Amino acid sequence: MMENIFAEKILAQRVAFVTGGGTGITGGVARALAENGARVALVSRKMEHLEPAAERINALGGEALAVVADVRQPEEVERAIAQTLERFGSLDIVVNGAAGNFLCAAEELSPNGFGTVVDIDLKGTFNVCRAAFAELKKSGGSILNISATLHYLGTPYQLHVSAAKAGVDALTRNLAVEWGRHGIRVNAIAPGPIEDTEGMSRLVPEPVKEKLKRGIPLGRFGRIRDIEQAAIFLCSDAASFINGAVLVVDGGQWLSNRMVGG
Ligand code: HXC
Repeated sequence: MMENIFAEKILAQRVAFVTGGGTGITGGVARALAENGARVALVSRKMEHLEPAAERINALGGEALAVVADVRQPEEVERAIAQTLERFGSLDIVVNGAAGNFLCAAEELSPNGFGTVVDIDLKGTFNVCRAAFAELKKSGGSILNISATLHYLGTPYQLHVSAAKAGVDALTRNLAVEWGRHGIRVNAIAPGPIEDTEGMSRLVPEPVKEKLKRGIPLGRFGRIRDIEQAAIFLCSDAASFINGAVLVVDGGQWLSNRMVGG
C-alpha cells in the first residue's frame, strides 16, 4: 500500500462528516481522514456497514462515530449532523459520497429508478450541504463532493447517474461561489474506474475490464488510496485557495475517449 505522504496529523483538530463512509471509496476516504488526525462521523443507511468501519478506525487509534441516516431524508440528515456535534463539538469537513448506481438502458429506466439515483446523489448532497452550512460557516470548513466522469461524454446505461453527477458538479461550482464568501470551500473529486470497489465489480462486466484498462493512459485502474490522497489534499490547508474545483482522478481515462461500453 502507498505510504501516507502527508505531514503527520495534517487534519488534527478537524471533525469530518462522511456520507457513504462505511464502504467503498468514501469508506477509504473516511479512514484516511482519521489516519491524518480528523475525528470522523460515518453516515449511511446501514449500521452493518458503519459499525465495522468505525471499529477499524477506532482500533487504529482514530475516533469514529457511526450514524445511521438516509441522505434522501432531510430530517435524518439534520439529526445526524446534530449527533456529530453532540459527540465532537464542531464540524470542519463534509464529504458527500453516498451514491446509488445500477446499469440500465435509458429506455428501460423507470421514473422511480431515475429519480432514486438523483435523490441519493444530487438531492442527498444538497440536503447534507444545507444541514452542515451553519457549522461550516462557524469553522471556515470545506465540502468535498464525490462526482464522476461519466457525464463528460455519453456513457451508455448510466443516464441516471450521469444526470445526477452533472448536477453535483453544478452544485459544487455554485456553492463555491455563494459560500466562498462565508469562508467555506466547496470542491469535488471525479474518480475514474477504481479497483476493489462495488461500483467496479457490479457495474463493469468482466469482459469490458481489460478493454477499459487499455484505455487508461497510465495503464492501470485507480486504487482507493489514489482518491484518499486527493481527498486529504483538498480538505487540508494545502488547498486553502482551491474552491469550486472538480479534480479528475482517473489516470487520464476520460480524455482517452474510451468509456465503459464505449
Ligand atoms: C433498473 C433499477 C435497478 C436496476 C433499482 N432500480 N435497481 N432499475 N435496473 N438494476 C429501480 C427500481 O426498480 C425502482 O424503480 C427504483 O430504482 C428504486 O429501487 P429500490 O430498490 O426501491 O430503491 P432503494 O432500495 O432505495 O435502492 C436503490 C439503489 C440501490 C440505491 C439504487 O440499488 C443501489 O444503488 N445500491 C448500490 C449502491 C452503490 O453501489 N453505490 C456505489 C455507486 S458507484 P421502480 O420503478 O421499480 O419503483 C458509482 C460510481 C460510478 O456511483 C462510476 C462507475 C464506473
